[in-house]
Amino acid sequence: MAFPVTRLRRLRRTGELRNLVRETRLTPDAFVYPMFVCPGEGVRKEVRSMPGVCNLSVDEAVKEAQEAHALGVPAVMLFGLPEKKDEVATGAWTENGIVQQAGRALKSEVPGLILMGDVCLCEYMSHGHCGIVKAPAQSLGAAVAAPPAATAEYEIVNDPTLEFLARTSVSLTRSGIDIIAPSDMMDGRVGAIRRALDDAGFINTPILSYAAKFASGFYGPFREAADSTPQFGDRRSYQMDSANLREAMREIEADIEEGADMIMVKPAMPYLDVIAAARERFDLPLAAYQVSGEYAMIEAAARNNWIDRERVMMESLISIRRAGASIILTYYAKDAARLLG
Ligand code: PBG
Repeated sequence: MAFPVTRLRRLRRTGELRNLVRETRLTPDAFVYPMFVCPGEGVRKEVRSMPGVCNLSVDEAVKEAQEAHALGVPAVMLFGLPEKKDEVATGAWTENGIVQQAGRALKSEVPGLILMGDVCLCEYMSHGHCGIVKAPAQSLGAAVAAPPAATAEYEIVNDPTLEFLARTSVSLTRSGIDIIAPSDMMDGRVGAIRRALDDAGFINTPILSYAAKFASGFYGPFREAADSTPQFGDRRSYQMDSANLREAMREIEADIEEGADMIMVKPAMPYLDVIAAARERFDLPLAAYQVSGEYAMIEAAARNNWIDRERVMMESLISIRRAGASIILTYYAKDAARLLG
């Protein structure tokens, strides 16, 4: 041959060589396992659009968390399905809320497991929005109970919502939640939560901010799991436009300035460029959430034998790691940990 050939295939010849030169590795200690806690006892109700994922009563959540922890998964992210919903999200911040109950049980039954609490109001609101709803005609501060008749005539008000998020965060921390993770996308919530935690004496409770959270069709199955579909309108006035990378950097920057200890990009696979840009620019621990729709797509195709489930699961997770996330929230946490075991 007249020219030197770059023989990259030399290092691909055996599994041992490929393993030696592998640039990115997955380990279970990067995983956070999301769980949906519901009232009752002995409840294990599979989510229709998320095969393998269940709504779990507190006793079952303890078993599930023990299993995940034994597989090497260090943390869970808790979501709650309250007994009742209302217009001020009482279920989110009440002392005996469902996640507070789970927090107390998990703290005593699974010591060593890191408990993260998702802080948002949508699961606890009758209208399914992440903040307080009011009609624009009313004065700010007077949050309305019922949604207005015409869907164009409502507003998810920012500042009045902050107090409820702060209250929720303090209540969750009291119940044993170790890390507070706001996912509502109101402006200023990280600062408001930080102040409230500090005032309550929880100066050592870290905040993992869902900093760049996009308005996404990939949350569909989650809303079935958490029964949190907005009853009118959508979330585009608070979650980010999927077209915007630079705005995502501003969102993250603002949360860091307000006191976030860790940041998150969500969803993961359709936003790998955002993860990579955030990794370049910021030095905080970076998490990414492989959301319900990402999971559901893989499961649906695998059930049709159109793709190899395990391969695609691991490939999707390594892509998130390669993009730069050090922490991955995934419904595959247990399954992937078992494979890596
Ligand atoms: C609460 C919240 C959502 C998710 C995490 N926290 C739903 C939403 O914003 O509609 C989505 C997680 C998933 O899809 O797996 N606001």
